[in-house]
Amino acid sequence: MERLRGKRAIVTGAGSGIGRAIVLRLAEEGARVVISDVDEEAATNVASEAGGETLIRKTDVADSSEVEALVGTAVEEWGGLDIMVNNAGIGVAGTTTNTSEEDYERVMDVCLRGTFFGMKHAIPAIRDSGGGSVINLSSVAALVGIADRAVYSAAKGAILAITRAAAIDHVEEGVRVNCIAPGTVDTPWIGRITAGYDDPEEARRNMQARQPHGRFVAPEEIAAMAAYLASDESASVIGACMVVDGGVTAR
Ligand SMILES: NC(=O)c1ccc[n+]([C@@H]2O[C@H](COP(=O)([O-])OP(=O)(O)OC[C@H]3O[C@@H](n4cnc5c(N)ncnc54)[C@H](O)[C@@H]3O)[C@@H](O)[C@H]2O)c1
Repeated sequence: MERLRGKRAIVTGAGSGIGRAIVLRLAEEGARVVISDVDEEAATNVASEAGGETLIRKTDVADSSEVEALVGTAVEEWGGLDIMVNNAGIGVAGTTTNTSEEDYERVMDVCLRGTFFGMKHAIPAIRDSGGGSVINLSSVAALVGIADRAVYSAAKGAILAITRAAAIDHVEEGVRVNCIAPGTVDTPWIGRITAGYDDPEEARRNMQARQPHGRFVAPEEIAAMAAYLASDESASVIGACMVVDGGVTAR
């Protein structure tokens, strides 16, 4: 499928996991992609895997001026922007009582401020390019209570709320804003969680057994949803939260 031929895209946090898979899928479908990550080496590795035309930009999404420059890259190099994927995010384990203020700031900075800056700078560029699609990464943590993820859940819930608000604000400008709520996706992130257990392999098996469909969601399954939301096939999907979770929230 080449639904995105001629489209110009940016993916943040694109050096790993879900972001990497989204880059590969958008490029496979014909888009030109700016691969951005705070980890430049990781972004460079993804660029070497992706076919088609790509650019690499080191960007910390928590810094408004860096995100503005990132959007400027697509506009200067390719004459505009059609797709913005606000994917960069970090998590922290903890409840409301035992999470430190520093961890609160860190998670909110990357997840929420990063998504806000991504929309703030990309939406005018997409509007001026004739319209397009913004895709934010929320989480099932925005939809159901998940133990030991209080601040992360708050950030992802806020991303869902700002997605809906922005969708209404910008629909008449031809900018569609949606989010994806993944369940537990098999990325390096999961490796960092299971590494904290005595038997990481057993922890991995237990996490998979808790999924109604008995396995982790694959990053490629999130990328398939992102490609759909980026394409004109989803023209009437506006302000939606697309759940890709193997049935977790159906329980
Ligand atoms: N893996 C899951 O189970 C899961 C579930 C729901 C939602 N998500 C969301 O999907 C997104 C991607 O998660 P993942 O599992 O691929 O994570 P990951 O840790 O594999 O990749 C995250 C990437 O973001 C980059 N990054 C971190 N801080 C950044 C910053 N300040 N600026 C720019 N880039 C930064 C990292 O360098 C890394 O390359 C996140 O927003 C996460 O909350 C993941």
